[in-house]
Amino acid sequence: MTLEKNNTFTLTNNNSGESFELPVFKGSVGPDVIDIRKLYGDTNCFTYDPGFTSTGSCESKITYIDGDEGILLYRGYPIDQLADNSDYLETCYLLLFGDLPNQSQKESFVNDITHHTMLHEQFNTFFHGFRRDAHPMAVMCGVVGALSAFYHDSLDINDPHHRMVSSYRLIAKVPTIAAQAYKYSVGQPFITPRNDLGFAENFLHMMFATPAEDYVVSKTLAKAMDRILILHADHEQNASTSTVRLAGSSGANPFACIAAGIASLWGPAHGGANEAVLKMLNEIGDVSKIPSFIKKAKDKDDPFRLMGFGHRVYKNFDPRAKVMQQSCHEVLDELGIKGEPLLDLAMELERIALEDEYFVNRKLYPNVDFYSGIIFKAIGIPETMFTVLFAVARTVGWISQWNEMIEDPTQKIGRPRQLYLGENKRDYIELSNR
Ligand code: CMC
Repeated sequence: MTLEKNNTFTLTNNNSGESFELPVFKGSVGPDVIDIRKLYGDTNCFTYDPGFTSTGSCESKITYIDGDEGILLYRGYPIDQLADNSDYLETCYLLLFGDLPNQSQKESFVNDITHHTMLHEQFNTFFHGFRRDAHPMAVMCGVVGALSAFYHDSLDINDPHHRMVSSYRLIAKVPTIAAQAYKYSVGQPFITPRNDLGFAENFLHMMFATPAEDYVVSKTLAKAMDRILILHADHEQNASTSTVRLAGSSGANPFACIAAGIASLWGPAHGGANEAVLKMLNEIGDVSKIPSFIKKAKDKDDPFRLMGFGHRVYKNFDPRAKVMQQSCHEVLDELGIKGEPLLDLAMELERIALEDEYFVNRKLYPNVDFYSGIIFKAIGIPETMFTVLFAVARTVGWISQWNEMIEDPTQKIGRPRQLYLGENKRDYIELSNR
């Protein structure tokens, strides 16, 4: 245990009058945690916390978030400093190994990732099993999971070398899979990765080049893409990361665990929000309709929510959104986009929602997905690929968290309990008597 024992918390059962002492542990920063591991044994009670809003599930040294202050740190480094000064592969090294690389470590890491971007040739056949109109996230779930059927030599989760080979393979190959999922959906041939390009540049090249015409990647767009990747690289114990950890807690292989994370990310309340933002903007259609959509979002009886607004943890502002807002304006300037109705609509929605009492009182600010959707749209990335890009960026966070979990001697198979409200024991009734 790296946590320092701080004090205790006394829990009193008002019915029996019994009291129980629960240890309280202190992290390096952030709220203390009450250790309830012995609670069931001592009290015969479970805790009840749907959505895990008050539950810490693990120790971690990777990412720290202070939602009230709008702070996000990767291994201690503030996200805005990394977005301004670092690059995605350096950030990957930081998340995976705990420290920024020196010059030779960085060169070696970049070289290794760059030289593992190609997929086994047989994957081409595998892709052709999908319908052309499949959502690329469906293809991602299938193909990333299938890596475990191709790379048998890195599946021993108890071997640190195997774990690292799988981690490199995932960081390197997931962008290739993502670009191929797109090419397959539009009926174009797959574009082989190029080792002379940077990570973000290569991704844009695999997306937009064709055998008939090369794609010259704009430095501004490559930089914006690299920043988006940095901003999405990890985010503590969110739904998809917790899914990866839970899947991994049973000893499943890393490719299967990351596929599970991709499935969890797909939902519109999580990574699917960036696609949902654009869908919503299309639905709104015109600035004059914004007030009626804001009204719908406030209506308790209407399930509609303003996509790209609000966050489970950030209740002040999303520090990623701040950086992304700046990138968003840079990209729109570089591309000379003015008078694009959807983007104008987004800017107007942002303005109105930031002033509206309902959103202000509930601290519902535009989140990272609000701006990333707009940037992707401006770069020419189709909406169905938005969440895929989130998955590309988050792969390093998932695999770093998975490695941390495997190396943590206190981790057990994840197995939550429940408050059972169903029938008590009853006897089977023969079909003829029902
Ligand atoms: N539009 C309208 N009302 C909202 C919204 C929204 N986007 N988000 C929250 N609320 C309201 C909610 O109805 C509730 O109101 P009241 O207190 O009157 O009942 C209050 O704000 C608190 O909401 P909550 O449901 O308790 O908040 P949560 O922490 O459970 O949900 C969330 C967080 C992100 C799921 C939610 O804000 C949401 O659905 N946002 C839209 C989807 C979205 O943009 N998701 C991307 C999150 S950022 C990317 C990532 O990290 O995955």
